[in-house]
Amino acid sequence: MSIVLTPAAQVHAALLSGMHGICFAEPWSPDSMAGILDMPGTVGLIAVDGDSLAPALRPPGPAGYVLWRVMADEAEILSVAVLPPWRRTGLGRRLMAAALEQARAAAATVMFLEVAIDNHAAQALYRGLGFVGAGIRKKYYADLDALVMRCELAIS
Ligand SMILES: CC(C)(COP(=O)(O)OP(=O)(O)OC[C@H]1O[C@@H](n2cnc3c(N)ncnc32)[C@H](O)[C@@H]1OP(=O)(O)O)[C@@H](O)C(=O)NCCC(=O)NCCS
Repeated sequence: MSIVLTPAAQVHAALLSGMHGICFAEPWSPDSMAGILDMPGTVGLIAVDGDSLAPALRPPGPAGYVLWRVMADEAEILSVAVLPPWRRTGLGRRLMAAALEQARAAAATVMFLEVAIDNHAAQALYRGLGFVGAGIRKKYYADLDALVMRCELAIS
């Protein structure tokens, strides 16, 4: 897999909105994605598969993204997703590991996220990277509770 992680910018708002719409039931419009990219402290990475080893299944192009925000010494994952053909190839882990590393380099000491209580795939991904449960937010997603998770960012 020859996938490059490239910084997300305003020009990618429609692309990110499109990927988000494929991966989540509640879409984020290009305008709302542009607003998120504009928030102070927002950082993002887009995974681009430039030389796919399986072009029929995974055509060259965007494969996933991660967006996070750093506010003083705390960071928060805003959204992470991998397009279906690239799932279970390690890309979600790679995107999240890069976000953790960059947040740590930006002096964050802890990263938080919310994940739907029934999203066991994402929870397994996060636990594998050192996140632990930190509480429940009732009805965070319409009728569904969210699990709040946190990961201490060790200073090296
Ligand atoms: C969650 C998501 C980002 C995972 O991305 P991915 O690229 O498939 O994940 P990886 O291949 O890096 O998997 C890393 C680990 O996550 C866990 N995992 C990922 N998908 C899983 C699944 N379907 N079932 C169980 N565990 C899963 C496993 O522990 C896996 O490690 P392993 O492959 O060594 O067993 C992807 O499924 C996705 O985009 N889902 C829709 C959007 C979403 O739910 N985003 C998170 C919202 S909080």
